[in-house]
Amino acid sequence: MDSETVTQQRFARMRPVPVGGDAASVRASDLPPGPRMPGLLQSVGLLRFRHWFVPALRRRYGDVFSIRIMPEGRYLVVFNRPEHVKEIFAGDPEVFHAGKGNAILGPVMGEHSLLLVDSSQHKRARRLLMPAFNGHALRGYEDLVSGLAKTEVGRWHEGEPFESLERMNALTLEVILQVVFGVTDESRLGELRPLVKQTVDIPPLVFLGWGFPKLQKYGPWRRTMENQVELDRVIFRVIAERREAPDLEVRTDVLSRLLLVRDEDGGGLTDEELRDQLVTLLLAGHETTASALSWTLHELGRDPAQAAKAREAAVAGDGDYLEAVLKESMRLHPVIPMVVRHLMAPATVGGIDLPAGANVAASIILAHESEESHPEHTRFRPERFLEGEVATNTWIPFGGGVRRCIGAGFSLMEGVAVLREVLTTYDVTLPHGTTEKAKVRNITSVPRHGARIVVTRR
Ligand code: HEM
Repeated sequence: MDSETVTQQRFARMRPVPVGGDAASVRASDLPPGPRMPGLLQSVGLLRFRHWFVPALRRRYGDVFSIRIMPEGRYLVVFNRPEHVKEIFAGDPEVFHAGKGNAILGPVMGEHSLLLVDSSQHKRARRLLMPAFNGHALRGYEDLVSGLAKTEVGRWHEGEPFESLERMNALTLEVILQVVFGVTDESRLGELRPLVKQTVDIPPLVFLGWGFPKLQKYGPWRRTMENQVELDRVIFRVIAERREAPDLEVRTDVLSRLLLVRDEDGGGLTDEELRDQLVTLLLAGHETTASALSWTLHELGRDPAQAAKAREAAVAGDGDYLEAVLKESMRLHPVIPMVVRHLMAPATVGGIDLPAGANVAASIILAHESEESHPEHTRFRPERFLEGEVATNTWIPFGGGVRRCIGAGFSLMEGVAVLREVLTTYDVTLPHGTTEKAKVRNITSVPRHGARIVVTRR
């Protein structure tokens, strides 16, 4: 079968289906209280205005509340206390499903995507992917990441304000292409960059329209489909060439490692599985890390004392301090607002009995702004991560349990490497009068004005 047919069949198979028919049997009276406004308004509040809507609901209803979400009749019960978060993360994976909530990403990510599968399928995929993200593998990626960061940082112009988010997006994309896909050949990179960028930038409207196959003939849906066909064609070619690479055994990119893994029966990942996982890693790992890094540069730029400490750490090669800087920035500015599990059977969380079909969420925004868990929670104070102040299940930017972000270690390694390059090369400040607040872009929260900074060579 040619790659175009494979792509078209995936789009036909992976229509986003609203989560579980069992959701329809859930009644508001079975759940903790929450606002009564129409589900559409609550969904918009949750998706577009999460930074004030969710905290406002906590002030009104307390630590546990329910939100009605689209499609009408679905409910999300939101938790944030560490003991409740712990129960959600430790929930039986057969009951607490995570994949279903991501069904809308199906046509792009594919049916094998780690983000979309549950139960035994998830367990197998996770076991096969894990070795490419363990400590040993991460150390193997570090030099290439540092090299890419050096090239990027070397291009910056002194004294001219620029949006750090845009530059970090370009850099993290390059990291995915070269370190994850393992593509370093300039002509192949030139082919991949625009295709990948268009995939990352698919507008929300296109995602919502996938339930209607006829739309695929028109405008943005047709262009998305054509781009996917082309991207898949290149990815399948990269996979085929890599399978034949004489140096496969010694290569250190993620794809090469994935080509060598075997399950208990001696089977490896098929080309389609590899494609789905590569696109998943691309979409999950690119903008998230870029947003976290640009928030970090913003925080350092506006606090000269913190910037001086971070610079000292960078010069002294103190990776632990730089990691604490990154973690504190991710605490203050969570990139992903919450993690959600769909209940396949009745379950109890925080002493509350919940019916099958309900969704439970651990709110990252609320967990991170808890004064009880993080004293002086509005202050940027990286030291809290070095002084053992941050208790388990109170800092959860990467989710938790069997679904914890597989790229958490990768993004921290990448973040530290990038900060080291920036801070040993430049002093970072903010253009006069700069303020920032969060804006929602697709699923992630990014700095609204792009986290503008000014750099001066040291
Ligand atoms: C600052 C950067 C990042 C943040 C904030 C972030 C956050 C998250 C969160 C909240 C989840 C859901 C966890 C859960 O449901 O409990 C997740 C899952 C995932 N992330 Fe990340 N992520 C980041 C970077 C990355 C990177 C660099 C990669 C890969 C290169 C990656 C790949 C994934 C994958 C594949 C999953 C699905 C895991 C599973 O379901 O088993 N992420 N991430």
